[in-house]
Amino acid sequence: MKRTFLFFLLTSFLFPVSSQEWELIWEENFDVDGVVDSTVWSNEYGFVRNNELQWYQPQNAYCKNGLLIIEGKHKKVKNPHYDVNSNDWRKKRDYASYTSSSINTRGKQEFLYGRIEVKAKIPTQTGAWPAIWTLGREMEWPSNGEIDIMEYYRINGIPHILANAAWGTNQRYHAKWKSQAIPFQKFLEKDPNWTDKFHLWRMDWDEDYIRLYLDNELLNEISLKETLNDKLGNYKNPFKQPHYILLNLAIGGDNGGEPNPEEYPIQYQVDYVKVYQKKSPTKLTKIETGELWPDNRGIHINAHGGGVIFHEGKYYWYGEHKSSHTSSAQVGITCYSSTDLVNWTYEGVALAVSDNSESEIVKGSVMERPKVIYNSKTNKFVLWFHLELKGKGYSAARYGTAISDKPTGPFKYIGSSRVNPGIYPENLPKSYRNKVYPESISSNWWTPKWRKAVEQGMLNLKDIKEGQMSRDMTLFIDTDGKGYHIYSSEENLTLHIAELSEDFLSHTGRYIRLFPGGHNEAPAIFKKDKTYWMITSGCTGWDPNEARMFSAPSIWGPWKQHDNPCIGPKAELTFESQSTYILPIQGKKDAFIFMADRWKPHNQIDSRYVWLPIQFDKKGKPFLEWIVSWNPNSFFDK
Ligand code: DGJ
Repeated sequence: MKRTFLFFLLTSFLFPVSSQEWELIWEENFDVDGVVDSTVWSNEYGFVRNNELQWYQPQNAYCKNGLLIIEGKHKKVKNPHYDVNSNDWRKKRDYASYTSSSINTRGKQEFLYGRIEVKAKIPTQTGAWPAIWTLGREMEWPSNGEIDIMEYYRINGIPHILANAAWGTNQRYHAKWKSQAIPFQKFLEKDPNWTDKFHLWRMDWDEDYIRLYLDNELLNEISLKETLNDKLGNYKNPFKQPHYILLNLAIGGDNGGEPNPEEYPIQYQVDYVKVYQKKSPTKLTKIETGELWPDNRGIHINAHGGGVIFHEGKYYWYGEHKSSHTSSAQVGITCYSSTDLVNWTYEGVALAVSDNSESEIVKGSVMERPKVIYNSKTNKFVLWFHLELKGKGYSAARYGTAISDKPTGPFKYIGSSRVNPGIYPENLPKSYRNKVYPESISSNWWTPKWRKAVEQGMLNLKDIKEGQMSRDMTLFIDTDGKGYHIYSSEENLTLHIAELSEDFLSHTGRYIRLFPGGHNEAPAIFKKDKTYWMITSGCTGWDPNEARMFSAPSIWGPWKQHDNPCIGPKAELTFESQSTYILPIQGKKDAFIFMADRWKPHNQIDSRYVWLPIQFDKKGKPFLEWIVSWNPNSFFDK
């Protein structure tokens, strides 16, 4: 036994949980019977590496009577992906004799510093290897950092409880460890009924230390001064980044040891997971334009291409959850809330990607520019977004819809479609509607003849049967309560405005084309007095370009174009950003916020927000001036 451990055990540090010091910022009580909540938890599939015996199955984790139950079962299960010739080690195994489950909050609930508490009853039978882990969001294992708040397994056949941290070395997949392994017998000596009870595992984590406790007894203390990765891990400290939580039951393998089938099935039960953080003494006082924007957990807000609504005293911000390695949807659409537009609380995933490969919103699909509106007739929150099907690039060009009773979700996915199939736009003259364009025009892009044909509706006619393409989009509710869907259509060349049905879930069939061939993306709209103003971008992928501004006396037009509304450094690039939404501030007249994204295509999770006040010149024309930092609550009072 290590001397340090003896010291800890003898002194038996007791740290009562002080409710004043810590603020509960997230809890999962597993209160709804049935499958685990997919807006919080993702499943791990497949065999456990180096383990011939086990197969993770999502159905082995479920909620019952306020508990998460992860079952370990002894049952031969066929590998649905079995392929003896495959290079993938998982596919070469034709069956598993044991099944269990592993769930994690990756991308959905991640935390930087604070206190994590998990109350659980662990299985101690042969083969059992239950764990409460955290892993860092960035880099591969172990340079991402692993914290074992709890592990139970056999070392040389002797059961132990472990509390560890691991980080990166210069050898791939080799970790440096600061471990504490306590013979399980020690716990049984103190309480012979230990196994039948729930126990409290806790981690206290700040910029200096990770401290791991079991039933308030300190088991391991790791100084963050020791935990720097080697060169392979960029010399970074993996414990200074957000971590996600894993609850896992493995069976057998090197650590679990040979299971005895007669002891199975076994259960790992978790009563709750709670996360606390120190009450932040310093609230944000300003929006720092284009800088990192920490949420209530100190993590940069992850809600890109988004929109904001106001409901019953709170603003709700919805956006794309972006990852570091891809722009496709890995998590779904997130939601944050605020009462002051500066300090935002993470409310979780409002619409989660699906794990089901048959689903249109499967992980890896594209879910962009989500917007939510509230329908006061149906009392529902309706979410629309741009959907592209997994593996099909940007060819599907559909809108997707989802619905919820609460602003924070979870939203239920309804489906996707092109817009208004079989219907001509109101402003496409009758004489253009039956035109047939020869190959020589339609396939010779950007020739004067092709441009003219686009203007006259060639690409609109191409999609009449299937419905109009719908990519970058926004939603708008007019002062008379009518809803509109504004989207880049016709291969992004032409904007459309389409009226929404009364329930805001589909279209009425009435729509117009705007600026055919104008190549407008990222539409954002607001209404001041009787004038509708729209700001868009050009189409240059993730690169910024010059904003465009339009106005009209009616949503149906006529729309006319104005000069670039931006003033200041990089005004010709919309301050290196792209519009996404225009948010009216509640209770203030003519106070609007222009919301834009500063994309970072190689690390989208780091994309920034450019929020600026919309100002009006003497003639009442809107303009956007670069401001380094500002507070929307005082700015408009000037
Ligand atoms: C620009 C659009 O505005 C974004 O929403 C996104 O679709 C990118 N193009 C993809 O390149």
